[in-house]
Amino acid sequence: MKLKPLYIVVISCIQISFAQNYEAKVDSLMQLMTLQEKIGQTTMYSGNWDQTGPFVGSDNGKYIREGNMGAMLNAMSVKGTRDLQKIAVEESRLGIPLLFGYDVIHGHRTIFPINLGLSASWDLKMIEESSRIAAEEASAEGIHWTFAPMIDVSREPRWGRISEGAGEDVYLNNRIAEAYVKGFQGDDLSKHNTILACAKHYVAYGAAQAGRDYHTTNMGEGELRNVYLPPFKAAVNAGVEAFMSAFNELNGVPTSGNKFTLRDILRDEWKFDGFVVSDYTSINEMINHGFAKDSIDAAKIGMNAGVDMDMVGDVYRLHLQQLVEDGKVSETYINDACKRILMAKYKLGLFDDPYRYIDEKREATTKYRPEFLAKAQEIASASSVLLQNKNETLPLSNTTNTIAFIGPLVKDKADILGNWAAKGDRYGKAISIFEGLSAYLKPEQILFAKGCDILTDDESGFEEAIKISKQADAIVLVMGEDHHMSGEAASRTDLKIPGIQPKLIRKIREANLTKKITLVLMNGRPLNLSKEVELVDAILEIWFPGTMGGAATADLLFGKVNPSGKLTVTFPRNVGQVPIYYNMKNTGRPIPEHWPKADYKSNYIDVANTPLFAFGHGLSYTSFKYSELKLSSETLTYSNAIEASIEVSNTGKFDGYEIVQLYIHDKVGSVTRPVKELKGFEKVFLKKGQTKTITFTITVEDLKFYNSEMTYGVETGEFEIAIAPHSDFKFKHAFNLID
Ligand code: GLC
Repeated sequence: MKLKPLYIVVISCIQISFAQNYEAKVDSLMQLMTLQEKIGQTTMYSGNWDQTGPFVGSDNGKYIREGNMGAMLNAMSVKGTRDLQKIAVEESRLGIPLLFGYDVIHGHRTIFPINLGLSASWDLKMIEESSRIAAEEASAEGIHWTFAPMIDVSREPRWGRISEGAGEDVYLNNRIAEAYVKGFQGDDLSKHNTILACAKHYVAYGAAQAGRDYHTTNMGEGELRNVYLPPFKAAVNAGVEAFMSAFNELNGVPTSGNKFTLRDILRDEWKFDGFVVSDYTSINEMINHGFAKDSIDAAKIGMNAGVDMDMVGDVYRLHLQQLVEDGKVSETYINDACKRILMAKYKLGLFDDPYRYIDEKREATTKYRPEFLAKAQEIASASSVLLQNKNETLPLSNTTNTIAFIGPLVKDKADILGNWAAKGDRYGKAISIFEGLSAYLKPEQILFAKGCDILTDDESGFEEAIKISKQADAIVLVMGEDHHMSGEAASRTDLKIPGIQPKLIRKIREANLTKKITLVLMNGRPLNLSKEVELVDAILEIWFPGTMGGAATADLLFGKVNPSGKLTVTFPRNVGQVPIYYNMKNTGRPIPEHWPKADYKSNYIDVANTPLFAFGHGLSYTSFKYSELKLSSETLTYSNAIEASIEVSNTGKFDGYEIVQLYIHDKVGSVTRPVKELKGFEKVFLKKGQTKTITFTITVEDLKFYNSEMTYGVETGEFEIAIAPHSDFKFKHAFNLID
């Protein structure tokens, strides 16, 4: 056994002693606390700096003085949090500081692309940087804790909250979960620019039936363990300090009252020692679920199942004392919950200095720092996906005489921030696409017409739009959804571009049969673009790109930045295909090679089974060539590793990034296995003409899954393997795992 260097041993001892020191302090504090004061720590109410759920009135000052509140959400600013903290520290019996939480999801003031967009960058360093910057800005305004990352795997584009996550793939969600946790929590929670992260929504919320938010989720334990749980385990491994239970019921048991997920898995299997907060009134909502008789019953179920803190539901404060006295809730559970919450406050240094996040000067000088805005612009460009680029329509030339910019989102400065935009400045700071053009075009080169609104059926703007489209040398349409059409409680049954925008696209093509048309899309979910792919030449998916989105988009349109993003969610041909994702099962009658000439196969008769755009799809202004894959061996054992390598060449006219992806297929298992699974990726920069060798190392750890007995392991047999630019390929190589 290799001895660790002495200094590592010493540091580890110091860290252990610190933890024990915290624990000793928390234990001694809890000796002084009454049962009701411990219950007070398990209670969170909302401030009024923002509203993120149904309004529930509460007398915050009174509860804080009584020691009946341990945390607040939607309370921020140095002044606001200082006033509240003073009450807690100076006017309550034990002076226990409050914890301030907020939804800092993709930025606090400087807003980054929505998380589905961030995931399309496949750039873990950028994702970590975005959450690091968010933590800097949020902590400067008194915030200790963010309700992020949202790591719900989802294959449901009807579900508005697909916009908040990292898409359909488990492996990518795992890596991105780790990046967010590291970014928010940094390397030392006692520093005043680090904040607690919170893995949400635990668990399987993204599998809402029919994509209807808050709807039922049902699945076998194998699907739960192989698809929906892994990103949460990855967050635990990354050191996340908090979890948030979800709204949905899972197999008949609401996830905010689910002992199996909250205690058996999270505590007993994963040994998670942070605290669990409910979602907004999700404990009370077990009454609506028909799982709790009343709020007393809901409080009992929530605490016994393992939810440590009641967000805004006001059932713990009101009922837990009586439930303990009646022997229906163990005081041990209350003590455990209170201790976890106090430990988090100690780790943040709030007992050493409750006002450590309160600094006017820092508040005034942190937000929108130039380097934050520059990073936001860089990340917004990297998150965009070039879906189509016929006839090399893009990049545009800034010497073009006139370019017509048409659509309801050309001058938008509000929707561009997307949903969950925290304290982003929706009408002031954000740069619209129209404003971003000024870096490339003179005013006289730009023709503009709004054409129509996002959702109305008023066609009165069509005439002007068509007129300028005919005058211009090139046409750029900027269309999509508004930011209320995705995010929470924003499910759609129809995935088309909303309103009469599609009609305007068609009219503009009819008026300009050969002119090159680019469609820039702002949206929070995969859309049905089956008509648009035939009508326009280029499609650039920019999601909701954030504060610097307009500048970033202009950089892409004019080629200063070469698009590199790749889809992390499948774009279906229409909503009837949903759910459709790249790593489905093969079935006993697989999809035929040449649709529709196939009888008795697992295919539709009206639409091909293939998606419109596959997971991992994304074009570049340059082109990349992949050599044949090379394997170091075609035999893998439990103790060795094999290397898969490939040469990637930039064969085009632009330097650019390529996201090289590793996929495997476990051909035969004790349970059926997906037709392919992402198991690695590397984002590589290649100058034009340059070639690089990319190598992935595969061990049995990469092949494990939960089998029919719910044991996590790997099974011998043949595995297909590929290194590819996206998921739409056929395997040509394989290796064998032998005992
Ligand atoms: C909301 C959301 C959750 C958020 C919480 C606090 O209902 O479901 O994601 O963190 O309430 O705002």
